Amino acid sequence: MNRYSRIAGTGSYLPPRRVTNAELAAELGGRGIETSDQWIVERTGIRARHFAEPGVTTSDLALPACRHALEAAGVSSADIDLIVVATSTPDMVFPSSAAILQHKLGIAGCPAFDLQAVCSGFVYALTVADSMIKSGAANKALVVGSEVFSRILDFNDRTTCVLFGDGAGAVVLEASDQPGILASDLHADGRHVGILCVPGTVSGGKVLGEPLLKMDGQAVFKLAIGVLEDAARKTLAKAGRTDADIDWLIPHQANLRIMQGTAKKLKLPLHKLIVTVDEHGNTSAASIPLALDAAVRGGQIERGDTLMLEGVGGGFTWGAVLLDY
Ligand code: UT7
Repeated sequence: MNRYSRIAGTGSYLPPRRVTNAELAAELGGRGIETSDQWIVERTGIRARHFAEPGVTTSDLALPACRHALEAAGVSSADIDLIVVATSTPDMVFPSSAAILQHKLGIAGCPAFDLQAVCSGFVYALTVADSMIKSGAANKALVVGSEVFSRILDFNDRTTCVLFGDGAGAVVLEASDQPGILASDLHADGRHVGILCVPGTVSGGKVLGEPLLKMDGQAVFKLAIGVLEDAARKTLAKAGRTDADIDWLIPHQANLRIMQGTAKKLKLPLHKLIVTVDEHGNTSAASIPLALDAAVRGGQIERGDTLMLEGVGGGFTWGAVLLDY
């Protein structure tokens, strides 16, 4: 009998503080930095984002997202035998946010680790967990994307600080004799490190470099459109499916123009595109599981639907996962 992995339940969590474009523009304007709701909506599709309160960490946001996913799956935390947290904004340098999350879930002993692939983190994490389940190394995994990107934003740089938000999404991925995850395709190209990075580190008790997000938005934009189509096509080919088989496209929620451009290249009508960037902003590794959970709970995605998940971001990294939900 073949062994696959399938999503048994989804969950998500947004910190309560919702900040609209108008509120952010007023705050920046008070410090002489000019932006507007109109610019942000026209260029990105973003209308609001959520920011965590000071002291709230990635594992704090991940915990309620995981609890919701466990409840939806009808699984107890005691049954979880693997935790993978995709994040670029961990609670500490070490230990991993996954180990901290494990303790907050009231369990101990199972492997728990963070995965760093920036905005591609969730598709990377899903692929790793799928491989571990297929190999028999795990039976029921929590796969999480959680971020407090507000902590690494430069609120003096209008070209980046209006784009990102905080949040967490999670799935319970479990072993099954039916797929589940059909295929995935992951990539990285370190030649493009500089176009999206946080060029700081901790050394000798000090922060060296600049621990704030830097992005060449246009360079990222141009690369993203091409690689997202390529990864989707490669994943479909591996699964023996075509673009006509995709019921829902859930791309990384960074910019509505990139998302719509990807849907067009895949010849998908825009009503098959899941969009939460308007309300969440770009939550990096959390954006795909947040969008997935919103669409499941909103009744758009139903059992049996075929989903194409796609991530792209710093590294440069990109990848796709095709699955039957
Ligand atoms: O999560 C990883 C993936 N990340 C992404 O996918 C991001 C990809 N890039 C983008 O989404 C877009 O490049 C941005 C949204 C970041 C920028 O949009 P754009 O259409 O590429 O704008 P631009 O950088 O060409 O800037 C156009 C103008 C510039 O002014 P000038 O030079 O034309 O006078 C900017 O200075 O808009 C100006 N500008 C702003 N104006 C008002 C830049 N940021 C702002 C702002 N408010 N917040």
